Amino acid sequence: MIKDLIQRNRSYRRFHQDVAVELETLRELVDLARLSASAANKQPLKYILSCAPEKNALIFPYLGWAGYLKGWPGPSEGERPSAYIIILGDREIKQSFGCDHGIAAQSILLGATEKGLGGCIIGSVQREGLRKALKIPVRYEILLVLALGKPKETVVIEGVGPDGDIRYWRDSDGVHHVPKRRLNDIIVG
Ligand SMILES: Cc1cc2nc3c(=O)[nH]c(=O)nc-3n(C[C@H](O)[C@H](O)[C@H](O)COP(=O)(O)O)c2cc1C
Repeated sequence: MIKDLIQRNRSYRRFHQDVAVELETLRELVDLARLSASAANKQPLKYILSCAPEKNALIFPYLGWAGYLKGWPGPSEGERPSAYIIILGDREIKQSFGCDHGIAAQSILLGATEKGLGGCIIGSVQREGLRKALKIPVRYEILLVLALGKPKETVVIEGVGPDGDIRYWRDSDGVHHVPKRRLNDIIVG
């Protein structure tokens, strides 16, 4: 069950933009993050939810997509995410956020996968532009943006080849291929 969920939880970057994600769905996903592990149980993460087209349009320009897909500027209109969850760190609680936001992101994306949705963790964010666009107070550090929606692409896992190239690629049918290292190559002791 968990392996199946993790295998289905791929990074999706093209979506059926016309399929809405409800605010209540986003709240349920953040609730999964709320219940997840947090260093010293400080729980410094806060969230901004977006599922309205106007708010989504404010967020999209500040995101960087698929660095290895040279020449692809990111999803075009009609294939963009229909929702976002922005993960913030509350500096009034902590100054650094360790791996709390990675754990939160994974909980949210596994929950999204279970609901038939998909998403992508975006760390390549023009943070000051996004801060201004959404008027995010300086109290909050912008950690990650999670793009969410109903996936419109197929993603398949491959083994890393003998050349060791870990770069993902898209084939002529638009299928996205993600090389993963083999189990024996990552267990070192
Ligand atoms: C911390 C983190 C930051 C990431 N930032 C971006 C990003 O800015 N843009 C993007 O398109 N994908 C981003 N990704 C997605 C990775 O490219 C993706 O996880 C990787 O290619 C493996 O694909 P998979 O998630 O389907 O296993 C990020 C993933 C992580 C964990």
